[in-house]
Amino acid sequence: MIVTAKLGFSAAHRLHNPNFDAEWNRQKYDKCDNAGGHGHNYVIEVSVSGDIDPQTGMVIDLTKLKDIIRRELLDHVDHRNLNSDVPFLGGVIPTAENLAVSFWKRLSPAIDEGALCQIVLHETEKNSVVYRGE
Ligand code: NI
Repeated sequence: MIVTAKLGFSAAHRLHNPNFDAEWNRQKYDKCDNAGGHGHNYVIEVSVSGDIDPQTGMVIDLTKLKDIIRRELLDHVDHRNLNSDVPFLGGVIPTAENLAVSFWKRLSPAIDEGALCQIVLHETEKNSVVYRGE
């Protein structure tokens, strides 16, 4: 059984790899390399798999799962600059792919009922990534 919690946050980022020159970064990231940065209204879907607890009828209480997501992730990234304001993203180029991996590392140990099995991160309505821990 898989249950999913869906939450949103807004954050700014700039895609830039300091190990390469301006031309490489412009070719790879185009407008996302603008030095001023830009923002997205991200939507994250966090899925937990496990057995249904016969006493509660639930895999994990979704209210509790959302509290964990807020405490571990959203309180740290909402209305922040992902390049500079978030210690656990230090040195990470904040693409949706890298964010999903970093979010997994942070959330997985905090989920104590069932197990984290998938993160879907929507950067825009049209762009999203799926990460299943590998
Ligand atoms: Ni962007």
